[in-house]
Amino acid sequence: MSRIIAFFNQSGGVGKTTLTMNIGYQLADLGRKVLLVDMDPQGSLTAFMGLEPMDLETTIYDAVVHQNELMLYQDLHGMDLAPSSIELCRAEMELAAALMREQRLKNALASASESYDFILIDCPPSLGILSVMSLVTATHVMIPIQTEFKALKGTELLVRTILEIMQVANKKLKIAGMVPTMFDGRTTQANQSLESIKAIAEQVGPIMPTIPRKTDFANASQAQMPLALYAPQSPAVSVLKEIAVKMDTL
Ligand SMILES: Nc1ncnc2c1ncn2[C@@H]1O[C@H](COP(=O)(O)OP(=O)(O)OP(=O)(O)O)[C@@H](O)[C@H]1O
Ligand SMILES: [Mg+2]
Repeated sequence: MSRIIAFFNQSGGVGKTTLTMNIGYQLADLGRKVLLVDMDPQGSLTAFMGLEPMDLETTIYDAVVHQNELMLYQDLHGMDLAPSSIELCRAEMELAAALMREQRLKNALASASESYDFILIDCPPSLGILSVMSLVTATHVMIPIQTEFKALKGTELLVRTILEIMQVANKKLKIAGMVPTMFDGRTTQANQSLESIKAIAEQVGPIMPTIPRKTDFANASQAQMPLALYAPQSPAVSVLKEIAVKMDTL
């Protein structure tokens, strides 16, 4: 059975997409078969992986909304991708009256899931139907949290949402961990935030190794490459590897 991990945080710009792609790459590097699923209408993961969302004729939208067969792009940096585009914005409205709509992604992935060791889902920064579908499909949720004071404000809502999903819609969902991201150890605020995240994690689930703030992450994404290929010497690469090894034991 594949492990299906949703990278979820309703806050924007915390590193969900960057982690999805880079941890996916590290898992593929460990020899695992990996599928990345872009559930964000912004299509950042699709773009980071080298595709232009606007040019795609078929995306995850067609599978989720029209229940067409899932179209995958194969062997992008050793991973497969179910891409998205802005059209996915329409899912909320178009599925408003659909029965069991929160099951649509699970149905779309059902036949593909047997072929993969890991399916990583990049969630949008919202608590809408696209995130709910992702959390209903997932076996595990990974929670990136930015090591900034403002990031902690949304954490209570985030945890409450996940616990609600676990109680109501997906009783098998487990918390894979919280990942502190964009950590700049030179600032007091970042250190204090990291301590607060660790304290929250003690009550919620495992804490993962901390991802440092490195501009190479943005440069690698712009170059449409995983960090390990763009800047193999970056100290962040070994942290990503460490997280992938932990995920491999889930
Ligand atoms: N560890 C890091 N250090 C420095 N920059 C980073 C790091 N992680 C991500 N970034 C950059 O921060 C920005 C936001 O990251 P990313 O797109 O992964 O976040 P996100 O949570 O997926 O955002 P959204 O909520 O909009 O989908 C990007 O420009 C990315 O390159
Ligand atoms: Mg994103």
